[in-house]
Amino acid sequence: MSFVPYDRPVRAAIVGLGRIYDLNVRAYRDNSDVDVVALVDPSEERRAQRQAEWPAARTFATAADLAASDVEVDAVEALLPIPLHVDGVVEMLGCGWHVNLQKPMCNDLAGAQRMLDAAAANDRVLRVMENYLFYEPLRKLKETVESGALGRVSGYHMKMVGSGRGGWEVPISSYQVQFEQMKRGRGILVFDDGWHKLATALWLFGPVREVRAWIGETELGPGVALDAPTTIAWEHANGVRGVWDITIAPDLYLRSDYYTNDERWEVTGTKGFARVNRCTGRGVQQPSLEVYVDGELRAFHALDDDWASSFRDSGRHWLRWLHTGEGPMWWRAAEAVDVLRFALAAYASSEAGGIGVDPATVDDRD
Ligand SMILES: NC(=O)c1ccc[n+]([C@@H]2O[C@H](COP(=O)([O-])OP(=O)(O)OC[C@H]3O[C@@H](n4cnc5c(N)ncnc54)[C@H](O)[C@@H]3O)[C@@H](O)[C@H]2O)c1
Repeated sequence: MSFVPYDRPVRAAIVGLGRIYDLNVRAYRDNSDVDVVALVDPSEERRAQRQAEWPAARTFATAADLAASDVEVDAVEALLPIPLHVDGVVEMLGCGWHVNLQKPMCNDLAGAQRMLDAAAANDRVLRVMENYLFYEPLRKLKETVESGALGRVSGYHMKMVGSGRGGWEVPISSYQVQFEQMKRGRGILVFDDGWHKLATALWLFGPVREVRAWIGETELGPGVALDAPTTIAWEHANGVRGVWDITIAPDLYLRSDYYTNDERWEVTGTKGFARVNRCTGRGVQQPSLEVYVDGELRAFHALDDDWASSFRDSGRHWLRWLHTGEGPMWWRAAEAVDVLRFALAAYASSEAGGIGVDPATVDDRD
């Protein structure tokens, strides 16, 4: 597409003013790359709450109301409930706005294709933001791997424990969306939060050629089943193998300022290993990155390991790119489709008893 950076601050609308607004908004505060001109949410309460910080922004109940107004918009921060992603993004691209969408992009390739087509037809940019790529301990992990300090990479492991106690308040509306998603076979651990883990795998080691998965189920209450215990293993095109285990510990208290998700990434090389000890929550309270080589453990004590900072930096990156063209811009919609394919390959593998599935071969389009 023929994107030309703006030679003035980007005029942005934030569409969806719920829970995750609290983190995404950090990119917009004190940022000379952007002017927040509009806030959109059907909830009057949310609009009033959020406008306190942006008194000059106009508020609207729907994106259609905004489009029909005299407010001029260049780009949208789309923080919509997941089931509205496809139609919402198609509508907003159709208004001539660039869109920064939250993960998961959507549930299937047919929906992703509709979004890609709308971006192309309207000559607008669709980005699916991946804040984990901006989490400083993970960036340092990638830098460490690429420096060769660990030797040649032998393999890696990701771990995730969903716990039921601690963290911030999550509105019932968010849970309702997750329950709907679970009924569609897109669980909160593998598909929703898992989107980030699959994205970091692709970001760290490149395309995946084979996925093997065993996706389990644990019933927590009537009609509520979480998608764990789960184990997913895969091989990248470069031969590196990864494995990710997901467990749930409903009664485990996890100290967290955000969601109660205990996470780790550990890369093993021929000479040593590097491990990110936490991300969203504060489970392991050692330094967030440790690197072991030749009998010595190096601990990184001064990284910005507040998970919220990854939202701030991801959003700033996008707004800077829109304003100045400084890039490359991370990530475009095409990379999000790779994440979606990775997840769909895991589902296909698990349904077929754990056989190897090439993500390039999955397709749900007619
Ligand atoms: N990157 C991450 O780690 C992360 C974490 C949590 C949520 N998310 C994503 O953020 C998005 C929003 O999640 P949330 O937790 O804030 O949900 P939420 O339910 O707290 O908020 C959604 C908001 O959208 C509003 N809304 C509903 N329909 C709308 C419409 N047609 N137009 C405008 N607004 C509308 C709702 O009134 C609500 O205020 C989802 O895509 C979710 O997957 C990402």
